[in-house]
Amino acid sequence: MDLESFVLEVSRLREEAENAFRDVRDAASLEEARVTFAGAKSGKLKSIQKLLGGVSPSDRPEAGRAFNEVKQAITALLEDAHDRLAEATASPAAAPLDVTLPGRPVRLGRLHPITRTIREVQGIMARLGFECVDGPEVEDQWHNFEALAIPPEHPARDPLDNFYLNVAQGQDPLLLRSQTSTVQIRVMEARKPPLRIVSLGRVYRPDTADATHYPMFHQVEGLLVEKGTTMAHLKSVLRLFASSFLGGDVHVRFRPSFFPFTEPSVEVDMEWGGRWVEMGGAGMVDPAVLAAVGYDPDQVSGFAFGLGVERIAARRYGVADIRDFYRNDVRFLEQFG
Ligand code: PHE
Repeated sequence: MDLESFVLEVSRLREEAENAFRDVRDAASLEEARVTFAGAKSGKLKSIQKLLGGVSPSDRPEAGRAFNEVKQAITALLEDAHDRLAEATASPAAAPLDVTLPGRPVRLGRLHPITRTIREVQGIMARLGFECVDGPEVEDQWHNFEALAIPPEHPARDPLDNFYLNVAQGQDPLLLRSQTSTVQIRVMEARKPPLRIVSLGRVYRPDTADATHYPMFHQVEGLLVEKGTTMAHLKSVLRLFASSFLGGDVHVRFRPSFFPFTEPSVEVDMEWGGRWVEMGGAGMVDPAVLAAVGYDPDQVSGFAFGLGVERIAARRYGVADIRDFYRNDVRFLEQFG
């Protein structure tokens, strides 16, 4: 092969390689181009190198130089294409920062309105001397019913009205607590009077969700046991609480009611915006309950109340449907300060 034809072959190869590497867009096409041109066995560079042997010895130094040039060129093309790909797939953080873009406000998170309500209630009750305590959400029959004087035949224990758990046969039934009154018992079992506690947490009932019901909701449970406690103390505490939480002088109304663990028992209404709204139940702790936890009903008396957190939050914030608290719609949640 003469020198001229060899040099022509070399320059054709160079042009072909330049085009091929320019079109490389991803790792697969880069590898394909590498094998085609620089492949060790049958790459085009290798084929041209073989032609060198056919060039006359006098022309060989010149042909060799041409070959080396194209070999270096292809190596450089390969490296360039590789670098280009690496840059394109680098993390966005590595992208150049455009300081001319307008600034955007940082979106700040905030506490859920129910969490805010819980913390606020805890704060108000703490100022009235009530210590904040917690209780388990999975309860036994004793704490959810029996110690609260709710006997086995009571409709509140019906499996259709509670979330009972699957337990091994022969084991005591367990359920998701249906009220926070369970915590009254747990605290009285563990401590001696005087005591003032408040407990806020989730409770569960298989209710169909509507504007005022949800299968999971929150209650505030308050309990005070001291010598000489009366209904007047109960009403004062609830009124102070309602006035602090809702603002202004909120009136509280008691309506006669029944709970197995309080005697007398009342429904608690609060006046707000010219309307009476039911907020929960309350009463004087039944002497039988005091006796069941080992207190002497002749020595101490107490009151207890249970309010719906969603209800008082809905009143306070003007929310018409409590399901909105759980829809996780940021447009709704963002409205709470
Ligand atoms: N636990 C009752 C309920 O869920 C409310 C209540 C609490 C009533 C404390 C009296 C005393 O309906």
